[in-house]
Amino acid sequence: MSEIEATDQDLQKLSENFDPFANSFWDRRLQVYRYLHRSQRTLLRSERHGGFWYAIGYTTVLDVQSRPEVFSNYRFTIPDRPVPPLIPATLDPPEHMPFKRLLSTFFTPQQAMQLRQRVAGIVEPLLLAGRARGRTDMVAEVMMPLMAELTMVDILGLEAANAMPYATPVHHMTRRDYPRDAAERDMRWLADQMRDDLRNGRVRKEAILGRLGGSLIDGRRLSEDELLHIAINLLIGGMGTTAFFTGSVIVFLGRHAGYRQQLLADDALLPSALEELLRVYTPTQTFGRSIKEDVVVENAQLRKGDKILLGYGGANFDPRAFADPDNVEFRRKPVRHMSFGIGPHRCLGSHVAKLIVSTVIDLLLRRAPDFCLDEAGVKRNDAAASMFGYNSVPIMFQ
Ligand code: HEM
Repeated sequence: MSEIEATDQDLQKLSENFDPFANSFWDRRLQVYRYLHRSQRTLLRSERHGGFWYAIGYTTVLDVQSRPEVFSNYRFTIPDRPVPPLIPATLDPPEHMPFKRLLSTFFTPQQAMQLRQRVAGIVEPLLLAGRARGRTDMVAEVMMPLMAELTMVDILGLEAANAMPYATPVHHMTRRDYPRDAAERDMRWLADQMRDDLRNGRVRKEAILGRLGGSLIDGRRLSEDELLHIAINLLIGGMGTTAFFTGSVIVFLGRHAGYRQQLLADDALLPSALEELLRVYTPTQTFGRSIKEDVVVENAQLRKGDKILLGYGGANFDPRAFADPDNVEFRRKPVRHMSFGIGPHRCLGSHVAKLIVSTVIDLLLRRAPDFCLDEAGVKRNDAAASMFGYNSVPIMFQ
């Protein structure tokens, strides 16, 4: 967990008018979290990005996310990026629950398990080709194509040839350095393409979009727009998060031989190790809500129209919830981390994400137990709005 060292004065400065998206913060995020928890700060106010509240206390985040009738998910992000209508992510109660219930039937642990062979079938040849070349980039060359193909083809049921072209606008949308109007234009193009796929039967019947086409919600069939909003939510929710987090795991194992050794010595340790790394390298550091009515949180008066960020990444280091939070402990139990969110909007794809990451890491450790990082090429994904992770993780095979 290497970071640029900061003095208490630096940390105080970083936590005043807090900007959880600045590179200066990313460079010292763990020290800032430690400083804020030490000073018993559970809710902060910042005037950056148009002004927002930031909840970092574990129980404060729990409190806010459990009241979706006050704290709305409706089409909003900080920093400001275009947010298309997404189902279920941008729905509030009472519309949210029927969709979430229906979609959850496609994302059970058992259904996730069915993807294992397919993940291995895509990743193994990529690793072998990398070994033959002596190197590969585990995010750019392995995880990005894997996530595009799995999401587009296996989960949604679209055509394989469209995997990368359809994934590209989704990645653009989440980048802070990509112009807003171009991102909106790209997303319109993607929606038009998928609408055309739906109308012309270019969707596999046994995958989610095909099966949803025959499902009922409140006694009626889903509309074409609803199918599209679900498809786009699944694309935005899963591809970058899972790919960048896998990058974080590989960077950690590449830099900490002792932890890698623990995994090599005990196959059964991987699931709990990944839970702990999800806590430490929280991929979605923050998630926003807008406030629908005046409300008091932690003795602060929040007003209708205010914005609040749920600081999942910071809450994962709250010492009141996690003993010795700076210590990476692969056998930590139970790990009630917030990396998949919590409450009504908890991640729909958490079982799929864990299945994918564990299959890839297991394969990597089996095929290349002595891989080493090409440190010069490791790149943190600073352009992603609220996502922490790495978009380039080159490894060399010994
Ligand atoms: C490591 C990978 C992943 C992480 C860290 C992650 C994180 C999250 C988080 C924090 C939320 C809650 C947002 C909130 O508080 O409003 C969420 C929601 C969601 N995620 Fe994930 N996600 C991951 C992978 C996936 C995958 C693979 C899929 C789909 C294939 C997916 C689909 C969704 C959807 C549809 C929602 C919206 C749920 C709702 O609003 O009810 N995610 N995710």
